[in-house]
Parts: sequence; structure tokens; C-alpha cells
Amino acid sequence: MFASKKDIVGIDVGSSAVKLVRLRESRGNFHLVNIGIMPLAPETIVDGAIMDSTAIVGAIKNLMTGMKVKAKRVATSVSGHSVIIRKIMLPVMTDAELEASIQWEAEQYIPFDISEVNIDFQIIGPDVKDPSQMNVILVAAKKDFVDDFVAVFIEAGLEPMLMDIDCFAVENMFDYNYGFVEDEVVALIDLGASATSVNVLKGEVSVFTRDIQAGGNLLSEELQKRLGFSREEAERAKLGDRDIANVDADSIDEILTDAIENLVQEVQRSLDFFTATSSEDRVSKVYLTGGVSSSEQVREALETRLGIPAERVNPFRNLTINEKEFDSEYLDAIGPMFSVATGLAMRKVGDK
Ligand SMILES: Nc1ncnc2c1ncn2[C@@H]1O[C@H](COP(=O)(O)OP(=O)(O)OP(=O)(O)O)[C@@H](O)[C@H]1O
Ligand SMILES: [Mg+2]
Repeated sequence: MFASKKDIVGIDVGSSAVKLVRLRESRGNFHLVNIGIMPLAPETIVDGAIMDSTAIVGAIKNLMTGMKVKAKRVATSVSGHSVIIRKIMLPVMTDAELEASIQWEAEQYIPFDISEVNIDFQIIGPDVKDPSQMNVILVAAKKDFVDDFVAVFIEAGLEPMLMDIDCFAVENMFDYNYGFVEDEVVALIDLGASATSVNVLKGEVSVFTRDIQAGGNLLSEELQKRLGFSREEAERAKLGDRDIANVDADSIDEILTDAIENLVQEVQRSLDFFTATSSEDRVSKVYLTGGVSSSEQVREALETRLGIPAERVNPFRNLTINEKEFDSEYLDAIGPMFSVATGLAMRKVGDK
């Protein structure tokens, strides 16, 4: 009668689509129960902020009713300009002490008025070099921005229980499927439609994050601008179609290669910045999520430019999946787009 405590639906409101994942946990294993995606029109979300809430409410409702999902409790996430994630050093103190002083401590790291943000933190532990100091991950998100997301879920008749950050949800998904190796430095790179986020981790601790304001849309825009393609034609070209509006295949390939190279350079710049600011840590491997990571050309370009292995992440890798219910080829094809939603679906009510 009552929904189980574990019954929480993961919903990722991405700029290109709303993605839903529902899992069921038994003895530490997750089973796939539902998965669904509903595309959003361009400009529905800009810079991570909601422009057209009605469209998003509609998409969420369609997903829930289409899949007959009865659960009401939702874990969701935000990302973009209005979210700040910083690793900071503070004098060693307890969780309760930091809770009491976080507003004051955080002020200097946050480019917004402190009264306008929700603040959260996680104490990582004492600093290796100076044990009187401790490392803390500080997270701040603009209140009005978060409130807009909460409002669409309430409007859709749901209960947003847990507001996460995209890159933390990806970490969560990655931990379950691949696991972090102590002291190993890797980067999780989420290649989305409007943004690419870079998250460098040492072991399971995030040591550097950066958002790049470019993603799959950049590739479409180049094709539209230079070949006069419509949005739909550009989307088809990205997926490999070369039979479009009498344009020769070589021109399409050339433009895509250039645009991918630009995107890859941006990623390289972020990682170079990490290397320059970090004493001895070097990223040994990158793991790719997000729709754009479906492109083998993107994966290869990253591997070539960075000179380290680049592996596409399968967010369903360790899930128990009934093959009669879900087509494995379909799951392979859509997997990259569901990295955030899968990580969200693994959250439990009461998680911080
Ligand atoms: N095979 C493919 N090759 C290249 N691009 C692809 C492929 N499949 C999907 N994409 C692109 O991936 C993007 C969608 O990815 P994703 O669902 O991760 O984005 P999003 O979460 O909606 O966006 P964001 O996180 O930036 O708000 C689109 O730009 C789409 O064109
Ligand atoms: Mg996304």
C-alpha cells in the first residue's frame, strides 16, 4: 500500500531531454525497472536554467503516465552556472562545527550573495601536508534556480525528495558499475547537449571540476550554419546519416571533425588547468558519459589529443536486467544519455 522506502525515481532534466530511470534494490543489487526519455524543444532550458516550465512539466507527466510509474518520490539534479563546486581547506573541525559556521566560511568562495544560495558540504578529511587543516567539498546552488526545478516536479504531482548535482550523480553511478581505485586519478567527462562537465577524482574524492559551455549542440550548430541544415538534419548527420539534402559526405565529415576537435580542445584545456594547479597528480584515464560519448569519433579524438585511454561508460553495466523486458542493443545505444538519471535512481530517501 505504501511505496517502499527505496522507491525513488531518478529524473534528469537535461537540456535536450528529460530522462527517467527506476531501479529496485535487493541485497545491494540494483534491478532495472523502468527507463524512459522525452525530448525537449531547444530553448526549454538555457544555461541549465528553466525557460519553459510548462514544457518540462508536460514531459515529466508523459514519462510517468506512459510507463505507469506510480511512485511519487523523485531524486533529481541541477548543473550549470548557478552551481558552484569547490574543494577548499579549512582548519580541522567537526561536522557540527562546520555546519554552524559554513555560511561564514563559504562566503569568500561564492560569487553570489550568500543569502541567495543553498550551501552543502562534505568533509573529506585532514590534509596530508598540513594535518591542522582539512579538505572540504563545498557546494552552493542559487536558491531561485533550484526552486524552479523543485516547482516543476511539484507541478507534475511529484515529491522531489533529493536535489543532487549532475556530476555527483554520475560519480554515484560510476562507483556502482566500475568502482574507484584508491589514489588512482581519473576524469569523468559528461558530454551533454549544451554543456560538457569535467570532474577529476583521486580515488573516490573529487579534486577538480569544471563546466565547459559547449556540447553536442555545438556540432549541430556548425552543420546548420555551414551547410544550411535544419536541426533535424544536423541531428541525423551526427548519428551518421550521410544522405542529406544533396550535400556530399566529405563536407559533413569535415565540419563534424572540426567541431569535434574544438570540443576536444576545450576538454584538454580544462585538464591542462588541473595539471598546472595540482602538485603531482596526473589523470591516467578518462571515462565518458553523456549522449555525445556515443560518437566513436569523439572518443577517439579525446584519446588521441589527451594521450591517455578514453573509455565510454556503460551506466547499466552491473544492473540486473531482464532481457525479455529490455532489448540489450537498445540499452547500449541509449546508455550514455542515462548516466545522470541512473546515478539519481541509486539514491535513497534520506541520502544527503
Ligand atoms: N551517436 C551520437 N553521436 C553524436 N552525438 C550524439 C549521439 N547520440 C546523441 N548525441 C548527442 O548527445 C546530446 C544529448 O546528450 P545528453 O542526453 O547527455 O544531453 P543532456 O543531458 O540533455 O544535455 P545537458 O547535460 O548539456 O543539459 C545531443 O546533443 C545529441 O545530439
Ligand atoms: Mg546532461
